[in-house]
Amino acid sequence: MIQSPLSPAGPQAAAIASLSTVFFTICAVVYVLTIGALLWAIFRRRQATDDAPQTTRRLGVVVAAAGVVTALTLVALTVSDAAAQRRVNGPPSPDAMLIEAIGHQWWWDFTYQGSPLELVSSPNELHIPVGVPITIKATSRDVIHSFWVPNLTGKRDLIPGMTTHLSLQADEPGTYRGQCAEFCGHQHAHMAFLVVAEPMEQFQQWIQRQRSGAPQPSNDEQKRGHDVFMTGPCVMCHTIRATSAGARFGPDLTHVASRRTIAAGTLTTSREHLADWIRDSQAVKPGNRMPPNVVRPENLDALLTYLETLQ
Ligand code: CUA
Repeated sequence: MIQSPLSPAGPQAAAIASLSTVFFTICAVVYVLTIGALLWAIFRRRQATDDAPQTTRRLGVVVAAAGVVTALTLVALTVSDAAAQRRVNGPPSPDAMLIEAIGHQWWWDFTYQGSPLELVSSPNELHIPVGVPITIKATSRDVIHSFWVPNLTGKRDLIPGMTTHLSLQADEPGTYRGQCAEFCGHQHAHMAFLVVAEPMEQFQQWIQRQRSGAPQPSNDEQKRGHDVFMTGPCVMCHTIRATSAGARFGPDLTHVASRRTIAAGTLTTSREHLADWIRDSQAVKPGNRMPPNVVRPENLDALLTYLETLQ
């Protein structure tokens, strides 16, 4: 799906797209009429009657009429803008599903309500059921970010220390790209995310799987990778539920291998990309909060094998 506000896939984005059509059409007509009048004035020959008092009076009427038409046009644009605002930012539907979005430098955390032990955190991948109104409760942990999924809704700034709400809904299943839309530092451009809209049944299966903790390592290599994680620096920033790793500074890795991308849409998820990232994430996304060389080279393979089990 092309990331564009002109291919709306939900009611909020449709309101914005039709508003832009209204503005574009009216402004195009105004432009053509204005340029036409200007050209007519430039190329028209002077005539003997131009200085006659009747002509001056007639021109006065024409200018007044143009003024009234201009004012009415501006009122029409204002009213259509207010109507679109209402559709985009109106009060959220009472049966909307609530999902929390937290902006970090430079990744997104999406959490779904549940008991603390089953708290689903889906970094950089927002899953929603199709046709269900969604309320996003949004805030930021550090600087101002902006949540923007052009195909689904308008932009909304995430302000540290403040909570805002926005509504969105996907009418068609699909994957929609979202992007931080407020300059937030070095890796602002690499602060993307995906919205995966799927039929309710599939969404339920997804969330059911996400609610479960990480599987236990089942062979020696996986066990060794698990120990590398739990005894190294990884555990100081990341959570893997159902293990002793519970830090919340970096993204939750309980189901990292089930996500399509790592590093906020920077790389597709694969063993090679995970290896590149762990070896030297600063070469991939300079300035990100993960230090380089967190794992000894001889331990990397085991760690990757363990991470791949986190489906
Ligand atoms: Cu976050 Cu730009």
